Amino acid sequence: MGEDLDAFLRALPKAELHLHIEGTLEPELAFELARRHGVRLAYPDAAALRAAYDFDDLQSFLDLYYAGTAVLRTEQDFYDLTWAYLGRARADGVRHVEVFFDPQTHTERGVPFEVPLDGIDAALRRGEREWGLTSRLILCFLRHRPEAAAFETLAQALPHRGRIHGVGLDSAERGNPPARFARVFARARAEGFLPVAHAGEEGPAAYVREALDLLRVRRVDHGVRCEEDPALVERLVRERIPLTVCPLSNLKLKVVPDLAAHNVLRLLHRGLCVTVNSDDPAYFGGYVADNFVALRRALGLTRADAVALARNSFEAAFLEPAARAAHLAALAAFAEAPAAQASGGFER
Ligand code: ADE
Ligand code: ZN
Repeated sequence: MGEDLDAFLRALPKAELHLHIEGTLEPELAFELARRHGVRLAYPDAAALRAAYDFDDLQSFLDLYYAGTAVLRTEQDFYDLTWAYLGRARADGVRHVEVFFDPQTHTERGVPFEVPLDGIDAALRRGEREWGLTSRLILCFLRHRPEAAAFETLAQALPHRGRIHGVGLDSAERGNPPARFARVFARARAEGFLPVAHAGEEGPAAYVREALDLLRVRRVDHGVRCEEDPALVERLVRERIPLTVCPLSNLKLKVVPDLAAHNVLRLLHRGLCVTVNSDDPAYFGGYVADNFVALRRALGLTRADAVALARNSFEAAFLEPAARAAHLAALAAFAEAPAAQASGGFER
């Protein structure tokens, strides 16, 4: 019974809207790239590196995540990274993905802005060409860095507006409120970039309000702490602002003590446009379908919940109306198909 539902969850057509490409760097690929560049890593092998993925909070993860980017140097490296992710996403039923990248993490190490952009973009285009897996690219400003650095990054993005669809805000949340980036987001919006921001992951509900009021975000990344402010929850429902929730990330970074305590299904049932995503899957023990399966085990996620989450993911995606309608129709056909036809008799 559970196995049948798991097969359904894995095959379910879905969009992934909260995915940091640097967070898809599996230890094996990190070692391959280190060999490619003659770099020594601080761990003897991939197993030892994976064993170090035990985090106390967001910052302890970010320290390792930023250190890991040292092996990403060439366009080929970013291409290989992105192509490996797309293969896993496709196997997880992902039909559309919106990929974050952190240009400052690379430009600060002397890697030109175009190197990650060209490598990631080439792989994304191949995914669409060969598999019909559509995508958008969103650059994230690092909120632990000054506003001026974000403005510089935005200036570097301007010549590439056709390939970069949105701007986001990530990195250490506490003490780095959205308000500090209100001006750069205003400029980015005026230049046509769609705004999103991490808020209410470790930071308070007030940061979610700031992201809405000052950054005018179209979606909130994480946002799970919105529940501490009931009027905010009502507003998110009323204005249908999507939350891109990442359950296994929240577990690994101790935002929740236990997945059974996660509020994702409560928020879904309360009427929020909640989506489920993997965030940094190489570090958090699972890709997007693993997040769905983990919710079934911990919270009793049902087939109807999963279909609602998948529908939300296409509604919240930065898709053209015709593409959105096509994805929603494919989802409806999948969800309504007799069990035996869709993926091996999961509906008992
Ligand atoms: N960068 C990569 N993953 C992140 C997360 N979960 N929160 C903030 N910044 C991040
Ligand atoms: Zn994130």
